[in-house]
Amino acid sequence: MEVVRLAHETDFAGWRQAARALRARHVAPDTTLWTVDGQANLFDGASPSEIASEGPIDPRSETAGRFTVPKAFVDLSAKVILHRSDERFALLYRLLWRLQDQPSLMHIASDPDVGRAQGFAGEVSRAAHKMKAFVRFRQTSDEDGEAFVAWFEPAHRVAEATAPFFARRFANMRFSILTPDACVHWDMTELAFTPGADPADAPAEDALEDYWRTYYASIFNPARLKIGAMQKEMPKRYWRNLPEAALIPELIAQAQGRTDTMVRQAPTEPSRRVVKAAIRNSRDAPWEGQAATSLEEVAAGVDHCRRCDLWRDATQGVVGEGPGKAKLLFVGEQPGDQEDLAGKPFVGPAGQVFNKALAEAGVPRTETYVTNAVKHFKHELRGKRRIHQTPNAGEVTACRWWLDAERRIVRPRVIVTLGATAGLAVFGKPTPIGKFRGQPIQLSDQAQGVVTYHPSYLLRLPDEAAKAKAYAAFVEDLRLAWSLAA
Ligand code: URA
Repeated sequence: MEVVRLAHETDFAGWRQAARALRARHVAPDTTLWTVDGQANLFDGASPSEIASEGPIDPRSETAGRFTVPKAFVDLSAKVILHRSDERFALLYRLLWRLQDQPSLMHIASDPDVGRAQGFAGEVSRAAHKMKAFVRFRQTSDEDGEAFVAWFEPAHRVAEATAPFFARRFANMRFSILTPDACVHWDMTELAFTPGADPADAPAEDALEDYWRTYYASIFNPARLKIGAMQKEMPKRYWRNLPEAALIPELIAQAQGRTDTMVRQAPTEPSRRVVKAAIRNSRDAPWEGQAATSLEEVAAGVDHCRRCDLWRDATQGVVGEGPGKAKLLFVGEQPGDQEDLAGKPFVGPAGQVFNKALAEAGVPRTETYVTNAVKHFKHELRGKRRIHQTPNAGEVTACRWWLDAERRIVRPRVIVTLGATAGLAVFGKPTPIGKFRGQPIQLSDQAQGVVTYHPSYLLRLPDEAAKAKAYAAFVEDLRLAWSLAA
């Protein structure tokens, strides 16, 4: 029996090195035992991986690793290694071994080893997603000033893998994320890692907790309350680390009463088939992908979209909202700060102006479909504030894939573009608002287009008289669009 001692639980480099050497020496998987050195860890100069019966492996040796494996296998392995199952190293070595005789093994989804590894990788991805969504910082300070600390218990060992996301997202914040496996530290320049921590190392109370609680209560949507789905997305294991979790029982108790006052449909969970198709769609180049055929597919696809880089710093993709067969479709620019957090279009300050103007024009928002040209929030960090940045033409073009799908599925009679970015996305060329507003424009998909101002533009106008005039024109445009759609 060959015994391999890896340096630590996520020692991917060590596993690769040992696996290559073993395979080159034709050591069969069932005669190999994979263990982790209980003493060593990633942070103390990582002792090299060893094969106990043969001594340390020299990766430059004649026999070590004269073969190639598919990239899909390497990518999958890098994720599987982060799984908590003790079986992961052996499973991967078995796959590596079998790839010799079955080079296309990774394409056989029905193979039990492939299926198991893919299942592990999926669970690791979900754990990383949850970590990005549920880490909550507490404010603290030390001799260098203000700092933020979060305690989190990820389902799998994803702390280091998700660290670059937090560094980008909170670039101007000095923070530490403590987990039982590893701690992540960001000093606004560099990421550093230290060994896992005890929950007691996280400070207990602070003002940010109130912020999170208020925020959570304000976005809690009782009409969408599905306790099963909620526990799936925010499993109880995470609740104890979330300040807003204290509100959940109370909010659930109030939910029925609040639901009665809201006109909103509960969303359905996308099926696995929909999610799989959406993932394919979201990565392929537009001319290769299969177009989404339902709003459910669009939502799942946007969530996984990698067609441009904006997903990296956004909390989530924000798709359109409204009936699937609305006669009138509004297109804004992109979600703002509040939309990015709430996952819905036009709920922040621009949304309030929009709602007011719709009411004055006699347009029921709930009968329209409201979406954006770009589905992820583009912004830059200034201090702790996320400042809106206008999406560029490449980002608008990349995201047209989703807007076009929404247009095809909803098939509205009228499309209203709010601002220049929406005009570019819908008409495919600049449509100066002063020149085009106030008149319907025929679109190629049978719909009529109406060009008008963006509500944020109305908010920004410094001169009160100009503001009132533009607002009146905006209301007039909404009225025109509604009458065309009737
Ligand atoms: N601005 C937009 O263009 N869309 C939103 O959803 C919010 C603000």
